[in-house]
Amino acid sequence: MKRLFYVLAAPAILLFVIAATDAPVETAGGPEGPPLRPMVAAAVSFVAADRQVGRQTLPAPTAPTAEYVGSDSCLGCHDDATKKLGGTVHWKAAHPRSPAAERGCESCHGPGSRHIEDPGSDTAIRKFATLTPREANSTCLSCHTKSPHTMWQGSAHDARNISCITCHSVHDPKSPTAQLTKATQTELCATCHRVQATKMKRVSHMPVPEGKMECSSCHNPHGATNVKLLKTGNWINESCVSCHAEKRGPFLFEHAAGRESCVSCHDPHGSSNDRLLVAKLPMLCQRCHIGTRHPSTIYDSTAFQSKSVRVIGRACVTCHAQIHGSNHPAGQAFTR
Ligand code: HEC
Ligand code: HEC
Ligand code: HEC
Ligand code: HEC
Ligand code: HEC
Ligand code: HEC
Ligand code: HEC
Ligand code: HEC
Ligand code: HEC
Ligand code: HEC
Repeated sequence: MKRLFYVLAAPAILLFVIAATDAPVETAGGPEGPPLRPMVAAAVSFVAADRQVGRQTLPAPTAPTAEYVGSDSCLGCHDDATKKLGGTVHWKAAHPRSPAAERGCESCHGPGSRHIEDPGSDTAIRKFATLTPREANSTCLSCHTKSPHTMWQGSAHDARNISCITCHSVHDPKSPTAQLTKATQTELCATCHRVQATKMKRVSHMPVPEGKMECSSCHNPHGATNVKLLKTGNWINESCVSCHAEKRGPFLFEHAAGRESCVSCHDPHGSSNDRLLVAKLPMLCQRCHIGTRHPSTIYDSTAFQSKSVRVIGRACVTCHAQIHGSNHPAGQAFTR
């Protein structure tokens, strides 16, 4: 491990030293310079630029001629603007990437000199109420470029013109964390996704209403590599087995249904059947296993009259207990 570190670090340090000592030659960037140098310079400045991403000063597209006046001037007229903002991380000057450590109010609202001359003008300063979603987002994305947000562009929410400030309020957050516009995540998501949020109230559900999990335990509302904004993996099962690891397999005998998708049988948001099942047993199994000899005897009169274990209680999974897959040498029917 240590050795690998040195192998990787040595050339990097070397490049850096070359670049640092020859700085003037590179900045000239002339054709007479050794051909390698500009490339080294470019590489170094690329790395440097990359590290600066979080600190970019916003361009002010709406007010090109305006100048920065400082937050104190703003507060002269907007004395209540820091009432709640003041307690948030955006106003912690000790945080080197926070607006407070940069241009204060103007990190988000843009330079304010023209606005002070003409407060009524909509274009003299960034007034979020008049911005398009994309314009508002670009303000926030000038700083929030890192991991949970890298997939934002083109995500389901971005594609439907939802903006950062649909879900977040930096001046008047209602939630204890993440500055949401509603007190809880479920409440927030429910404003648009009523179906999924109410399913959480059914008898069988994951512990979201109990506060042990949230929508964001499975979803990343800022975009994801998986389908349906799922936070982990590249297909639905990878998301489920990131918590239910024992269902991951590999199994000697796999159940094709489970291999394909956990949501063939479970509804992750909640269900009126036990164990989040999408249908009641034995109907769950009957949806696929209709033609086989043995299940077809399930509904004959003797099975019902004798209250056969095949139709009551856990029904099929009384015997097919290893329904997610079996590693037993004789487990081809998931009975052991
Ligand atoms: C001279 C007083 C004054 C100063 C200084 C001032 N503003 Fe304003 N600002 C106003 C007034 C008045 C309005 C309301 C204009 C209107 O609604 O027509 C306003 C409106 C705004 C709005 C839009 C409010 C809304 O309802 O959408 C924003 C944002 C804003 N100011 C930000 C700032 C920022 C940032 C600064 C510092 C760079 C600043 N202001 C400095 C007087 C001032
Ligand atoms: C992190 C970015 C950010 C910073 C820093 C910021 N604002 Fe805002 N401001 C916004 C957003 C976004 C809105 C739209 C309402 C919201 O989301 O809370 C807004 C709204 C406003 C409004 C309209 C009234 C309202 O509350 O809706 C005024 C006035 C305002 N800001 C002034 C200021 C002043 C003055 C400062 C500095 C003390 C400041 N803002 C700092 C992002 C910011
Ligand atoms: C000048 C840079 C900057 C801008 C612009 C900015 N932020 Fe932030 N924001 C930060 C920093 C720094 C943090 C602290 C977390 C971190 O280090 O990433 C933060 C934290 C947050 C948090 C988490 C707060 C918490 O309590 O956990 C939210 C939510 C947030 N920002 C939303 C926004 C939104 C919405 C906008 C656009 C209206 C915005 N930010 C604009 C720098 C910025
Ligand atoms: C559909 C609602 C929604 C939208 C749109 C949204 N967020 Fe969030 N955001 C959340 C929720 C919920 C959380 C808390 C759970 C989490 O961390 O994923 C959060 C958390 C955050 C955090 C704190 C977590 C962290 O450490 O990164 C930041 C910063 C943030 N959002 C910034 C943004 C920015 C910037 C945008 C616009 C590009 C945006 N959000 C758009 C719902 C949203
Ligand atoms: C245990 C993980 C998990 C939790 C918690 C969760 N979801 Fe989901 N969600 C999923 C999975 C898996 C899918 C994909 C289901 C499918 O394709 O049938 C999904 C799909 C969705 C969809 C897309 C539906 C569609 O048919 O396109 C929405 C919207 C959604 N969830 C919202 C929410 C909301 C809102 C919450 C919080 C109240 C939430 N989810 C909590 C796992 C979860
Ligand atoms: C302002 C409305 C709004 C809010 C609030 C909102 N969403 Fe969405 N969401 C949408 C829209 C619109 C779509 C796109 C639906 C479509 O294209 O069919 C979507 C799509 C989704 C999808 C499906 C993505 C896909 O690939 O099909 C998921 C999952 C989702 N949202 C989760 C959430 C979660 C979790 C929250 C709360 C943190 C949330 N949403 C808050 C409007 C919203
Ligand atoms: C973020 C972690 C997490 C993810 C992802 C997750 N679960 Fe869960 N799941 C839990 C927790 C926690 C419980 C509650 C366990 C308990 O109550 O003992 C649970 C319970 C369950 C239950 C049992 C419910 C009951 O009534 O006993 C089923 C079935 C289930 N999950 C299926 C799934 C499926 C299918 C997926 C993928 C769509 C999934 N889970 C994704 C954490 C997760
Ligand atoms: C063929 C239908 C089917 C598929 C597909 C399926 N399950 Fe299940 N699952 C069930 C049944 C039936 C039960 C109830 C078993 C019982 O009562 O003994 C169950 C129970 C569970 C439980 C709770 C009890 C336990 O065994 O811990 C979890 C968690 C679970 N499944 C997760 C998953 C995950 C994760 C996937 C995808 C890898 C998945 N299931 C795929 C049918 C299925
Ligand atoms: C979404 C469809 C689907 C559902 C629901 C489903 N299965 Fe299956 N099951 C399959 C498929 C596909 C196979 C593989 C058949 C094959 O290889 O010939 C299979 C295989 C089996 C096998 C092994 C059969 C053999 O010949 O090796 C058993 C036993 C079984 N399922 C029982 C169940 C039980 C019990 C349930 C209900 C808890 C159930 N299945 C639900 C699709 C499903
Ligand atoms: C009393 C125990 C028991 C119950 C209840 C039961 N099975 Fe079976 N099942 C078996 C046994 C034993 C086998 C044969 C295993 C073998 O050949 O190794 C089997 C085989 C199967 C097979 C594969 C071979 C075939 O004949 O088709 C399927 C599919 C199947 N069962 C589905 C179901 C379904 C669906 C239910 C519920 C409606 C169910 N079983 C209920 C014990 C049971």
